[in-house]
Amino acid sequence: MLFGGKGGVGKTSCAAATSIWAAAQGYDVLVISTDPAHSLGVILEQKIGPEVKAVEGVENLSALEIDPKVALKQMQGGVTKTEEKDLSFPGLDSIGDFDMGSAPGADEALAFAKVLEYIERPEHELIVFDTAPTGHTLRLLSLPDVLNSWLGKLIKLRYSMGRVWGGLKAIIGRGKDEKDDSIEVLQRLKKTVEKAREQLSNKSVTSFVPVMIPEAMAIEQTEMLLTALYEYEIPVEHIIVNMIFPEEVSCRFCKARREMQSQHLTRIRHIYSDQFKVTELPLLDTEVRGISKIKQLSSFLFSQS
Ligand SMILES: Nc1ncnc2c1ncn2[C@@H]1O[C@H](COP(=O)(O)OP(=O)(O)OP(=O)(O)O)[C@@H](O)[C@H]1O
Ligand SMILES: [Mg+2]
Repeated sequence: MLFGGKGGVGKTSCAAATSIWAAAQGYDVLVISTDPAHSLGVILEQKIGPEVKAVEGVENLSALEIDPKVALKQMQGGVTKTEEKDLSFPGLDSIGDFDMGSAPGADEALAFAKVLEYIERPEHELIVFDTAPTGHTLRLLSLPDVLNSWLGKLIKLRYSMGRVWGGLKAIIGRGKDEKDDSIEVLQRLKKTVEKAREQLSNKSVTSFVPVMIPEAMAIEQTEMLLTALYEYEIPVEHIIVNMIFPEEVSCRFCKARREMQSQHLTRIRHIYSDQFKVTELPLLDTEVRGISKIKQLSSFLFSQS
């Protein structure tokens, strides 16, 4: 399950509430933050890091905050010298020659590599992703398609480069018997990416939950998000509308906000309730912080399902 949406609408709170609820039902749950500005640890009130760790005070729940820099180190550490050589192009001795960490989109790519790892080795019954605000997450979700076509091109290029390179080596009479595994490595990588793509668009394993608040700007961003998710064929069944003011308010300020929200709520119900299950969450009287407050949010979230 992936929770996404505009900045500050309650993605992390809802991801934490869902994880804690599912863990209490007995599922083995892992919650992963792909947002480089992590706040999962703040909400859970404990240190969560780049290694999977059990969440204190909640049975069956582990958490991880993906750190692109650590992911890069682990990846470089995980690539054997032979694989590194296999992946490299003639004249470029090692993928270490690239400063991958500073390449455009590297944060998303490294987060994606980490996500792939968990899709490849499903040790948990449920993985909940707390994602970054919309733009970043859309770039992350577009990666399987981008990478797939990029790898396809790279494989073709490697084939033709291989012929040229092979010819050159033959001319200078060296390396005729050298084994060249680069195409195989690229094809393996392409298969992994294709598998992730398949998983992401498989309704029986993936569900993206857009989180929004009843305000014009959030509705617009949700529309954009839903269009992109539709294009990427990522299944959406539920939408959460968060931070709804209580109905029985007495102060003028609260009444005005409630009125503004009501108009947007009517529109949201009108646009979405045919297609999705829309869950409305009240604005609590304090911020969502600590296990017991998260449980309070879960009780609203799951009393309606
Ligand atoms: N229903 C609610 N009632 C009261 N406070 C809430 C509610 N939902 C979220 N909050 C508070 O709103 C703030 C933003 O919530 P949260 O961090 O979950 O949003 P986010 O969408 O993950 O933000 P970001 O885009 O920065 O990652 C937090 O302080 C959180 O405690
Ligand atoms: Mg967040």
